[in-house]
Amino acid sequence: MKKIFVTGGSGLVGSFFVENYSKKYQIMAPEYPQIDLTKKETFENIIKEEKPDVILHFAAYTDVSQAESQRDDRSGACWQINVEGTRNLVKLAKEINAHFIHISTDYVFPGSEEDPGPHKESDTPEVNSSKLTWYGFTKAEAERVVNSILGRKRTILRLVYPVRAKYSAKLDYLRKPLSLFDQGKLYPLFNDQQVTISFIDEIGLALQKIIDGKVYGNFHASTPDLSTPYELISYLIEKARGVKGVVKKSSLSPSVRYQKFGGLKVEETEKILGIKFSPWHQVIDQLVANF
Ligand SMILES: NC(=O)c1ccc[n+]([C@@H]2O[C@H](COP(=O)([O-])OP(=O)(O)OC[C@H]3O[C@@H](n4cnc5c(N)ncnc54)[C@H](OP(=O)(O)O)[C@@H]3O)[C@@H](O)[C@H]2O)c1
Repeated sequence: MKKIFVTGGSGLVGSFFVENYSKKYQIMAPEYPQIDLTKKETFENIIKEEKPDVILHFAAYTDVSQAESQRDDRSGACWQINVEGTRNLVKLAKEINAHFIHISTDYVFPGSEEDPGPHKESDTPEVNSSKLTWYGFTKAEAERVVNSILGRKRTILRLVYPVRAKYSAKLDYLRKPLSLFDQGKLYPLFNDQQVTISFIDEIGLALQKIIDGKVYGNFHASTPDLSTPYELISYLIEKARGVKGVVKKSSLSPSVRYQKFGGLKVEETEKILGIKFSPWHQVIDQLVANF
């Protein structure tokens, strides 16, 4: 049984892994503030003593709006957690020769008209911070830190809008607008923004393949087909609440905050890991069946 040290095990994505894979793996997931990525002394000893086979790094500063108020501030929490915290952890992983799996995001790409998605696994994260959100830039820097320390012995798994049927601590990309709809507060949704979503159950499957096969490289977990927020939420409300034609459309003007042409491609991941990601209609059908 592989021993896995998980960071961010209380979060939206990490908690799914901890809940669903603790019979298959020996999982250690000490939570913040017991471990604080920005304070190496809170996890150095435990990692050196336990010598896990795998370090699975979900933890991050994920509040995209709050992060924007820290733009260019390298002493701010977003940079310290996402970049310096990752650096602390990767160095330790290298020292004990653990398989390091870094969880990243499509936000490392601009998704603009000049550099549109959906992006391939081999595409290079943006280096110009003004083309990304500050959160996205810190995650792009974190990928560069992982690459520079581990080289070819790195594993990076990028996600985009992770969704799951149940998680009470935070509403995800689909359950938030559904909740607003239930309260009669749903705002109009972009019908000209290109997005994909990550089904958290299938993120788990991809991770299982990566862990069991000790696979290195860049991977994506995402629906293979593109959609728009308008299309996704309209279908979700129809399936979950039986109501059609209630969502209003809006248009997205270009901004760094929202990628107009986002999304991730999964062909290389599917080929290497031998899995097939479900298209978005099927993801929503499965979510609604398990709400
Ligand atoms: N959600 C998205 O839309 C999205 C999209 C693409 C990629 N991702 C990536 O997927 C990963 C997981 O995201 P998520 O949505 O599950 O995030 P989340 O729900 O916000 O969870 C973040 C986790 O990190 C922990 N954490 C925060 N600061 C920490 C610190 N200083 N030291 C140790 N742990 C700390 C949090 O602990 P507390 O809860 O105790 O604060 C929490 O367990 C992240 O790497 C994120 O960048 C997310």
